[in-house]
Amino acid sequence: MSKLSITAYTFGVLFFIVSFSFSIYYGIKVVTHDLPSEKKPKETYHYHFVLIPEELDNEYWRLVEKGAKAAAKDYGVMLEYVGPKQANIEDHLKTIEMSAASKVDGIMTQGLSDDQFTPLINRVIEEGIPVITVDTDASNSKRMAYIGTDNYYSGYLAGRAFVADTKGKANVAIITGSFYKNHQIKRVQGFQDAVKSEKDIHIIDIQESEISRVQASEKAYQIMQEHPEVNAFYGTSALDGIGIAQVVKKYKKNDPLYIMAFDTLPETLKYIREGVIDATVVQEPFEMGYESVKMMIDYIEGKKVPSVIHTNTKILRVEDLPPASRERMEEIQ
Ligand code: BGC
Repeated sequence: MSKLSITAYTFGVLFFIVSFSFSIYYGIKVVTHDLPSEKKPKETYHYHFVLIPEELDNEYWRLVEKGAKAAAKDYGVMLEYVGPKQANIEDHLKTIEMSAASKVDGIMTQGLSDDQFTPLINRVIEEGIPVITVDTDASNSKRMAYIGTDNYYSGYLAGRAFVADTKGKANVAIITGSFYKNHQIKRVQGFQDAVKSEKDIHIIDIQESEISRVQASEKAYQIMQEHPEVNAFYGTSALDGIGIAQVVKKYKKNDPLYIMAFDTLPETLKYIREGVIDATVVQEPFEMGYESVKMMIDYIEGKKVPSVIHTNTKILRVEDLPPASRERMEEIQ
């Protein structure tokens, strides 16, 4: 063989080896996509749970995740936080199905609607995977337990506080996260029941934000245009109050409206200190996350788990904030 053909032969062999290794490597990568069960958690963890919220990047849910991760660390659990990036029922249901197919040891999620979530939750449980509902219950399903706010009661509390603050006289518009989700329906119902005996409180309009701050702002603006008599708002999910406050602050500077919000995200508290939001309903998202992991472990280990645990809920106004933080806010303004 000539020198040239030896070089060409060697080059050819090398090329074959390199391209063969590449195809093996990427071939494996293609079939081993990131399903939860493939991380072989049992070697390093006692259990593998998933927490599936309606919206992954929602600040409220990040607090639930924080609580769940803290408990996971304390009790040797591998916890995955997965779900739709933006609220989307189909993606939410699909994530539950995929987690069940991955044979995780437990699923924590919301029971957003009876017709879509109850049959799926029941099927997952029949396959042997325990489900605990968090924040929103599907009480007609076979879920092992629910931990979260008593959503009807929290709406009722909001309504009673609203009556007290407005002295029983207001034209109120409601912006709710959704017309179809269990927790939002109950928060509206509780409020309606609490104000219904007040003859000078009128519910003028109810709109939906799809739990988006931008949509809450748009709906608030539209309501103010269409119903100039509206002088109060009630927002029933974490970003509704913030969205309403943005619009009210901008367009109603000299004629402020009353706002009742939900949750205590930093921006909500900022608007309370500024006097734009008048009151908010407190929930305990960190505790929901933490306790749901503990409950799941207890259930798997055969301990008795109560079927419903209601976390605390109460109304918070500016006077309930620590004075130091109020003064700091006044200095900044
Ligand atoms: C609710 C969550 C919801 C969030 C949306 C909270 O008040 O409890 O279920 O996802 O608001 O921002």
